[in-house]
Amino acid sequence: MKEIFDNIFKEGNKIYTKNLAPGRKVYTERFVSVDGLEYREWDRTKSKLSAAITNGIKEVPIKKGTKVLYLGASTGTTVSHVSDIIESHGIVYAVEFAKRVLKNIFSVASARNNIVPILADARKPGDYYWVENVDVVYCDVAQPDQTRIAIDNTKYFGAHYIMIAIKSQSIDVTKNPDDVYKEQIDILEKNGFEVVDWVKLDPYEKDHCFIVAKRL
Ligand SMILES: C[S@@+](CC[C@H](N)C(=O)[O-])C[C@H]1O[C@@H](n2cnc3c(N)ncnc32)[C@H](O)[C@@H]1O
Repeated sequence: MKEIFDNIFKEGNKIYTKNLAPGRKVYTERFVSVDGLEYREWDRTKSKLSAAITNGIKEVPIKKGTKVLYLGASTGTTVSHVSDIIESHGIVYAVEFAKRVLKNIFSVASARNNIVPILADARKPGDYYWVENVDVVYCDVAQPDQTRIAIDNTKYFGAHYIMIAIKSQSIDVTKNPDDVYKEQIDILEKNGFEVVDWVKLDPYEKDHCFIVAKRL
């Protein structure tokens, strides 16, 4: 197992995180044991951050101890790997507006001490104003205005980084995905962010890209 980013490991062409809740699975991930430690395979077909890392994104600002505001938590697949990476000194505030899927996050969070599930609309950061300032806003809400949603949350909670998964078809089905990606990058740059790196997620997620941007 080779550590490629802080607390993110690679073996062959697969990536892994160390299980913060040993013995507990979150989805259908495989466990691998190395030197008495349990690692969870991070399935790149089920998590866009895993696909971005597999496709060679150069920077991952989520590390041990990072505070993350995660928008679009869904059932907690990616949130659980973020929780593994940040360990007990970090925290992930997991925002999701669909009650049915958030239920699953409660069960994931019950075995870990660093996930705070929040039932809220990511377009209204004032509804979760009590969240402390964070280091990173991670956004995967698959909405046409999601870059704006990410920027607003970053400013509200003082974050230094945005990590965002862009689904071209959620933004404009009629446009060429490359043009959609460029437009989202322009929005970030015009709002005081420097795009540190971005990668396409094909073949794991068709017509998606993943952007890491830093607030200037
Ligand atoms: C593509 S899924 C997220 C997958 C998840 N990030 C993962 O990797 O495991 C998008 C999620 O965003 C949620 N969502 C969409 N719009 C939202 C909003 N305005 N506020 C909060 N959640 C939202 C949806 O209910 C859905 O669960």
